[in-house]
Amino acid sequence: MCGIIGVVAKSAVKSVLEGLGRLEYRGYDSSGISILSNNKIHTIKAEGKLTNLKHRLSRQPIDGDCCIGHTRWATHGRANVTNAHPHQYGQVSVVHNGIIENYLHLKQQLMQWGHHFNSSTDSEVIPHLINHYLAQPMTHEEAIEKAIGQLKGSYALGVLINGANNNLYAVKQGSPLVISQGSHGAYMASDAMALGADSGKIYYPEDNELITLNSNEIKCCSRSINKKIHFINNKKYVKAVSKGEHSSFMEKEIFEQVDLLKRLSVNNHTNEYSIINFKDLNKITIIACGTSYYAASVAKTWFEQYANILVEVDIASEYRYRSPVVIDNELTIFVSQSGETADTLAALRYAKSKKAQTLALVNAVNSSIAREANFTFEIYAGPEIGVASTKAFSCQLAIFYKMALEAAKQTAFIDKQELTQLALNFVQLPYIMEKVLQRCADIKLMAKKLCKYSNILFLGRGVLTAIAQEGALKLKEISYIHAEAYAAGELKHGPIALLDEQMPVLVIAPKNSLTEKLLSNIKEVQARNAPLFIIGDHSINEHINLRDDEFFELPAIPESILPIISVIPMQLLALYSAQTLGKNVDQPRNLAKSVTVE
Ligand code: AGP
Repeated sequence: MCGIIGVVAKSAVKSVLEGLGRLEYRGYDSSGISILSNNKIHTIKAEGKLTNLKHRLSRQPIDGDCCIGHTRWATHGRANVTNAHPHQYGQVSVVHNGIIENYLHLKQQLMQWGHHFNSSTDSEVIPHLINHYLAQPMTHEEAIEKAIGQLKGSYALGVLINGANNNLYAVKQGSPLVISQGSHGAYMASDAMALGADSGKIYYPEDNELITLNSNEIKCCSRSINKKIHFINNKKYVKAVSKGEHSSFMEKEIFEQVDLLKRLSVNNHTNEYSIINFKDLNKITIIACGTSYYAASVAKTWFEQYANILVEVDIASEYRYRSPVVIDNELTIFVSQSGETADTLAALRYAKSKKAQTLALVNAVNSSIAREANFTFEIYAGPEIGVASTKAFSCQLAIFYKMALEAAKQTAFIDKQELTQLALNFVQLPYIMEKVLQRCADIKLMAKKLCKYSNILFLGRGVLTAIAQEGALKLKEISYIHAEAYAAGELKHGPIALLDEQMPVLVIAPKNSLTEKLLSNIKEVQARNAPLFIIGDHSINEHINLRDDEFFELPAIPESILPIISVIPMQLLALYSAQTLGKNVDQPRNLAKSVTVE
């Protein structure tokens, strides 16, 4: 997803470049800035990483007090300087995050009016439109409002206009935008993470609420939405996010999980979950993408096993195209770390159009998904910078676990004694997790051997199939090793044809009700000489005798919390494999932290 930032302050260029640096984790392929200097706009852009932009600026230094910047994750048009943002035309320069769905129609209209375009992007129509209206007797704000009135799709915009005496304009529809008032300046950005230490107070504008920022004030100047801006304090993000002693944000976030789960296991939010009337529900449908979808798959088992509530799980990009049947008393839950995933947001809007009750399970409580759902539960993971989601996943599972216990209490499907035991398991969880993390060196050994292969099969059974899927996703998205996950019982129905000395199989095999079944699957693998790696109970290895870099022993783990514990070795395996292969762990190629385009 693209990142935008705008600053009205002394040495605005420096602040914008620092902000773009804080947005790098989202993934990008080009960048640029526009500066209003002596009421004239200057635009500098570069392909590739931010260092290329800084190099260009060093060759043609320029500064001013009003500046916008952009990191681009290409959607329309290749990654090159022409397509990079800001797009400047005539009196106007614009940075954009989102997708303009009717840009071709607008482009044709503008070309009929004599406009010429340089780029193949959708965004470039925006400065042309604003310019067109500026040519009529209109104020800057009127011209911007007239232009965005023509746009269909999603956008978060930063706009500079020649002669605008250091005004910066910001407006959004469907894409994230945050405004901030600091003691030394005024700021706008697509993500609070981009804001620097000066921005203590923030405000999240509504859709199409046009904001004017300058050195004296920040005001809403929409004709349709005339209101006073109420800022909120936002210490959580203002604190500079650092890796500490870790080599990457991902490594830091993996090890942060113990403290987060300790906090979640003592902070009694159950009253937070009792606002949902689980006992009268006919069905729960959980919709998400990627890692959040695997968390949903685990939650299905918990709601069905402990509360006897029918649960369906669906991938957000598939959900609304299959004409899902929404029934009375159905709760649709939308799981999203960023709260901005376009597929999930679109699915939420579809469910709302079908009058379903909607609940957002998010990390970013001011996000679009959180704001549009009927209910919102926070996962309390804190800012997650690594593109590969780790602590958010375990916090999603933790909140789902607590929701399932609340549902079990309301439906009384299991007896009080079992419910108490499930709650005790949850309190134990961070301490068991800590023991697993303390043996990270053993996983590193396994990773050094595993990462020599180009393809790997992950197997799990029951609820751990979703953990095998998450493990395969983690490995492929940061080490670029091809990995596929299967329910172990499926092996003999086709994938077994793949097995040979070059196709290793990693099995998650803890002590649980399915261990015996899993053992026969493991035998099938061994019989075909496929290299075997196991993360499981010590009793499994008594039958197989794998070496230390092939077998990682899991401690005794209560079955109900197995998914949350067994994902830890998966996360470490991916981290150490990628590090061994010299990959960029925090910013893997082609990926963005939040995919705000469909
Ligand atoms: C997870 O490691 C991936 N980066 C990706 O699959 C992610 O989970 C997915 O894009 C959903 O993101 P969200 O939770 O912010 O909606």
